[in-house]
Amino acid sequence: MTILVTGGAGFIGSNFVLDWLALSNETVVNVDKLTYAGNLQNLASLQGNAHHVFVQGDIGDGALLARLLAQHQPRAVLNFAAESHVDRSISGPGEFIQTNIVGTFGLLEAVRAYWGGLDAEPKKAFRFLHVSTDEVYGSLGQADPAFSETKRYEPNSPYSASKAASDHLVRAYHHTYGLPVLTTNCSNNYGPFHFPEKLIPLIIVNAQAGKPLPVYGDGQQIRDWLYVKDHCSAIRRVLEVGALGETYNVGGWNEKPNLDIVHTVCALLDELKPRADGKPYKAQITYVTDRPGHDRRYAIDASKIEKELGWKPAETFETGIRKTVLWYLDNPQWVANVQSGGYRDWVSQQYGDQA
Ligand code: NAD
Ligand code: DAU
Repeated sequence: MTILVTGGAGFIGSNFVLDWLALSNETVVNVDKLTYAGNLQNLASLQGNAHHVFVQGDIGDGALLARLLAQHQPRAVLNFAAESHVDRSISGPGEFIQTNIVGTFGLLEAVRAYWGGLDAEPKKAFRFLHVSTDEVYGSLGQADPAFSETKRYEPNSPYSASKAASDHLVRAYHHTYGLPVLTTNCSNNYGPFHFPEKLIPLIIVNAQAGKPLPVYGDGQQIRDWLYVKDHCSAIRRVLEVGALGETYNVGGWNEKPNLDIVHTVCALLDELKPRADGKPYKAQITYVTDRPGHDRRYAIDASKIEKELGWKPAETFETGIRKTVLWYLDNPQWVANVQSGGYRDWVSQQYGDQA
């Protein structure tokens, strides 16, 4: 048996592939374009593992996807590939439209053709799982209930609008063509291999480098945090027993204002790797200009996936954030290679023209 994963060299995708292969012998075909966010060093521990087949490619490349699907005959396709950083979508939305909307459309077309040609049994068993975000639901007021799956879509950034469009395409392929789809809408992830342009890894990395810790606006925006491996376990559960055409919100009931997150990370660093001058890392906090259109609050109501599929996160925020800070302290070379761009040279050294 085989699954095909897109975007498996990114933050969540690489965690998913590593966990998948730690838990099973089912081959993963991993299609990733290797944009700035794709890092094959995340998957270095799989070197020589015949159950990991890496292919550098674009989800919008229909001919490539058709060839890979025909060759590997996967029982499922999981779509992690996306442009994912909100700030980048504000300064340059084009790539977000291209990958998240046009790319997802190309992938859906290739998968529809493949699935349509399968024999009855594999056709019935096949699944297309689309990995999406809570940002499609828009921004909550302080007293609003958390996002449920029936919440109206109100995306506010080019990133969330492009993800919302992709969710709608996935839905339409189920309703129109009967494609057996599943969609997950998850809250903010954190954990190993998180690219240090996002809040938590940026704070960890900047703190140690003695740089400012940039907090947008008043720092009172609220996000709902989930350890990345819990997101991966939720995706495995949805793939296994999710009802066709359904969407599942994924979250860990961990709403926190950004400033609290920054203080927590600083306190852990004070404990685990104190500054040489004995001052607290929080002294490096710097308030900077807010993100345009910044969503104030996200919160996930995860009761559907908990009740219907029996999924629960394994980590609390306290255990997950400690693991995360320790991972960054234990992996300075990964951070250095990301910052220098050296991970890109590593790819050509390790894989030559195979990647
Ligand atoms: P990421 O930016 O770390 O990784 C994205 C990966 O996709 C990279 O490896 C990149 O090379 C690849 N990619 C980009 N364009 C591609 C294309 N056209 N074809 C093939 N590969 C391409 O993102 P992430 O944080 O790992 O997010 C993965 C998915 O999960 C995304 O769909 C994102 O919207 C969703 N999501 C993320 C979070 C979060 O907190 N990070 C939360 C909920 C949902
Ligand atoms: O909610 C899920 C989403 O979470 C995913 O769909 C996105 O792919 C992912 O990037 C993330 O989006 P956010 O915009 O919430 O994540 P980010 O880490 O960029 O920012 C988290 C919060 O911290 C947000 O309110 C903006 C703020 N922030 C961010 C950065 C990078 C700062 O205050 N300072 C910063 O330097």
